[in-house]
Amino acid sequence: MPTGEQTHSTSLDLAWIRSQFPALAQTVNGHPAVFLDGPGGTQVPRRVIDAISDYLARHNANTGGAFETSHATDRIIIDARSAMADFLNCDADEIVFGANMTALTYAMSRSIGRELVPGDEIVLTLLDHDANFSPWKVLEEKGVTIRAAKFNPADCTLDMQDLARQITSRTRLVAVGYASNAVGTINDVKEVIRLARQAGALSYIDAVHYAPHGLIDVRDLDCDFLVCSTYKFFGPHMGILYGKREYLARLHPYKVRPNTENVPQRWEWGTLNHECIAGIKACIDYWEELGRYVCSAGTLAREASDGHRRPSYHDVSVETGPAPSPSRREAIIAAHAAARFHERALTEKLIPGLLAIPGLKLYGIADPHRFDHRCATTVVRMDGHSPLELSTKLGERGFFTWDGNYYALNLTEQLGVEQSGGFLRIGLVHYNTMEEVDRLLAALREIAGA
Ligand SMILES: Cc1ncc(COP(=O)(O)O)c(C=O)c1O
Repeated sequence: MPTGEQTHSTSLDLAWIRSQFPALAQTVNGHPAVFLDGPGGTQVPRRVIDAISDYLARHNANTGGAFETSHATDRIIIDARSAMADFLNCDADEIVFGANMTALTYAMSRSIGRELVPGDEIVLTLLDHDANFSPWKVLEEKGVTIRAAKFNPADCTLDMQDLARQITSRTRLVAVGYASNAVGTINDVKEVIRLARQAGALSYIDAVHYAPHGLIDVRDLDCDFLVCSTYKFFGPHMGILYGKREYLARLHPYKVRPNTENVPQRWEWGTLNHECIAGIKACIDYWEELGRYVCSAGTLAREASDGHRRPSYHDVSVETGPAPSPSRREAIIAAHAAARFHERALTEKLIPGLLAIPGLKLYGIADPHRFDHRCATTVVRMDGHSPLELSTKLGERGFFTWDGNYYALNLTEQLGVEQSGGFLRIGLVHYNTMEEVDRLLAALREIAGA
């Protein structure tokens, strides 16, 4: 159980959290490594590494056999499915394991596409990662019309009026991201799902970027499908698809004949990555332990250092005091609330610090009063330095950032930065510290010559 010191403005025990992630202790050229590459993939706690190697050492087998290691493999998959169901708040048979979000989305677009006819329409957005764009756009080959909702270039928020205009009586599916993996905008997906339902269309939510930053509740959202990738929220490299049971049963997957017709296994083809599935269970165990500590410490009701409650902090069950023995789902809720609270504090330091650097331009929501509508992922450009040059200079100093378009191709094209290297992306998650943000800002000021 965590016992170490806590940061003064947030309730997370960062010493304990960071001790869970072996990778965070690395150095580069004598500098401590600062992992700001979470949007491309987060680091994993020791227990995920152990679960993967333990599976390979002791349980490695295929499924459905009449012997011990195969039984163990079956149990591990059942446990991981039920853990993921608690993470998303659905039933275990609504969880599909896959290689990654992109592969799962192509599988689903092919199956949904089987039922579409020329003249049917699909609504997408120009803010999304290409993995929630191209798999749907290929359905143009079936005569399907693709409509793409715009975003507001000034703050990179989704233009909800335009989105509502794009949805018509011919719309069969609306596919939208929960949060942008580039500019960090959190979309009002609940409203998008409502608009889709009102038009009789399916909703497909890409929660890959949102998952490490905010609680997902597919029941509350009432979405038809939601996808995420465990390697973005401290697990191994795999993808997860939630689908309402009725659609997983009714739609027709392309699959081999001997594969079962049972839901959800009819969507899982060939042999899965069992060792990573063992790692997924361990990843959810980490979220659960973090949440149990938050609940037992009851620290979230604490005021921030400026005396004001952070408006992003909204988890009532934790605000009103810890449950005596929280369920796994309750612990996950508490962990997310604490992580979001901490990330909010980091963002409140990072963004004003970035805006104060001469020659630096930030894309996305910059007004602290609107930080509820963004997560701790920020993109910038700096005069006189391409994003690659910036990322390289930061990399030499131990800061791991990304440059380019991160597959949010429509966004970089619309903002006119695609031809000149895209953006520099700084991605914070709950294991990042205030001190890392300070050091990053100092490094950027030095590079800017400020
Ligand atoms: C928002 C978003 N959607 C989709 C993807 C694709 O996920 P995967 O790598 O699991 O296919 C990513 C990956 O970066 C992403 O950030």
